[in-house]
Amino acid sequence: MPLLEVRNLVVRYGEIEALRGVSFSVEEGKVVTLLGANGAGKSTTLRAISGLTKPASGEIVFDGEPISGLGPETIVRRGISHVPEGRRVFPGLTVKENIMLGASNRRAPKAQLSREADAMFDLFPDIRKFSNALGWTLSGGQLQMVAVARGLMAKPKLLLLDEPSLGLAPVIVQAVFRIISEIRRSTTVLLVEQNARMGLSVADYGYVLETGRIVLGGKPDELWGNEAIRAAYLGGHAKVPA
Ligand SMILES: Nc1ncnc2c1ncn2[C@@H]1O[C@H](COP(=O)(O)OP(=O)(O)O)[C@@H](O)[C@H]1O
Ligand SMILES: [Mg+2]
Repeated sequence: MPLLEVRNLVVRYGEIEALRGVSFSVEEGKVVTLLGANGAGKSTTLRAISGLTKPASGEIVFDGEPISGLGPETIVRRGISHVPEGRRVFPGLTVKENIMLGASNRRAPKAQLSREADAMFDLFPDIRKFSNALGWTLSGGQLQMVAVARGLMAKPKLLLLDEPSLGLAPVIVQAVFRIISEIRRSTTVLLVEQNARMGLSVADYGYVLETGRIVLGGKPDELWGNEAIRAAYLGGHAKVPA
């Protein structure tokens, strides 16, 4: 049984049907990437899974239990952590305090959570120096690292990552993706990306979402072999990523 199974998911915003019967699954221990252009419905899919948006119909089964219709706090407690688009880092808190907010679903002693937050800086050495500082100024990549570290503090079974590369310089995107390939050793990841090259570079399996429908699914090399995908995402002339 897959860790996550989404069946015939429909989400509407008033008149707009953002998801028109989306079905896919995520196997435990894998990285699955959902590719799609701006407006395809990627964020809506993640928001429906994490309980931030109520689906009109369809089913979401996580860890053997239906979760559609449950509230976001309940879903976090079941083991799904969502790192949303944009990097919401609170300027009035230190970086470590921001990271520790991610553990609000857990009942572990504060001292243990503090140690775990400190350990996050092994995975994210670039932000270690800001750990206890107030009045920090972080780059886009560093903010993204804080957001991902916060998501991991929930100790999720499934981490939902919404466009971690958005707006980042290529070298920073690479750093963020190196972290994703570290995370995958311990956590199942559902990654949403417009950047097909990076998104597929860490994936075991990928799906392509187009105006609220999954139009294609396959292993990264199968997707890269698809002419239509290369045309849509890579100007038609790209090579398989190294
Ligand atoms: N809060 C909202 N209210 C109305 N329409 C929305 C809202 N959020 C998203 N949409 C619409 O739903 C569709 C899918 O959006 P979204 O899931 O954000 O796509 P993506 O993340 O792939 O860019 C788009 O047409 C978008 O304009
Ligand atoms: Mg989005």
